Amino acid sequence: MIAAMDIPVTKASKSKLTDMDMNNLPFGKFFTDHMLVAEYENGTWKQPVIKPYGPIQLDPANAALHYGQSIFEGIKAYRNEAGEAFIFRPFDNYKRFNISAKRMSMPEVPEDIFIEGMRQLIDLEKNWIPAKKDHSLYIRPFMFAADDTIGVKPADKYLFMIILSPTGPYYAAPMRIYVEDIYTRAAPGGIGFAKAAGNYASSLLAASEAKAKGFDQVLWTDAFEHKYVQEVGTMNVFFQLGNKIVTPRLDGAILAGVTRNSVITVLQELGYEVEERDIKIDELMEAYKAGELKEAFGTGTAATISMIKELHYKGYSMTFDTATWKTSPAISARMNEIREGKTEDVHGWMFRV
Ligand code: COI
Repeated sequence: MIAAMDIPVTKASKSKLTDMDMNNLPFGKFFTDHMLVAEYENGTWKQPVIKPYGPIQLDPANAALHYGQSIFEGIKAYRNEAGEAFIFRPFDNYKRFNISAKRMSMPEVPEDIFIEGMRQLIDLEKNWIPAKKDHSLYIRPFMFAADDTIGVKPADKYLFMIILSPTGPYYAAPMRIYVEDIYTRAAPGGIGFAKAAGNYASSLLAASEAKAKGFDQVLWTDAFEHKYVQEVGTMNVFFQLGNKIVTPRLDGAILAGVTRNSVITVLQELGYEVEERDIKIDELMEAYKAGELKEAFGTGTAATISMIKELHYKGYSMTFDTATWKTSPAISARMNEIREGKTEDVHGWMFRV
């Protein structure tokens, strides 16, 4: 079923690629020539199409605008030294997308539309995959309610789309992080594990207030006591305590990051013991004071591996000299080798386009 689908393509009259400065690619600013669109109505997905990238028309009563039935994914495509295009773990993001869909009362997207649609779109746009180190083609699949009525109920109509953006690293330098102990991102039983648009909307105020104090992002803590660390605004988070690596367990309130999962695997291959468990901010403070908190870093598709040079909690700053670190650079190097096809892909993470 999956490869048999031949998606109709309407080509853009002129490519924007010739006018692009591929050496200056801030995250999420530039988009390729084409996008994929699939409509869902009356319980059925219609034939997806690939067409020129451009605005879409929405009714002012569009249900997603009013009630937020909207989910997305972030995936990256790379080119190896031979110029072949690969997508990093798209099936894992596909699974998570449908987990998000279920939680948000939205229909599941079939594999042939999500994966084969993505493959055919990337195949058409593969010249947009940047060749530069630490750069990639960011893939943004998303789905939103398309009903034109404002009754509060799961919509009957949806749009699934994929857009592509050539990009460099999301965070170019080690980060200053503010440990948030007033606002809450998510609680068990809520939508924290879903990649739902609303999770990001609710994070913006805390992030803006942290930025006004000179920080790059917040580290969320649990909803009940604000004592246990959860995730950073755009990334999962890891800490090195002595020789052991700890990361918050997937408790339903944090995102099950595909990069998080890859990093745990790579760390274990590099010989580290990794614990997924509840982590108190007080434990990190004590470890820091005892000289045992060696490294702190975030992981995400957009963020890749981002070192944290400062963790600020209740007026106390834990600061780090990231230039001396060994663990996070070793993971970045290993992940890059896999993505660039410089080492054997033993886990089958790279999906050939
Ligand atoms: C990603 O890492 O792909 C994300 O979705 C995080 C953020 C850019 C929203």
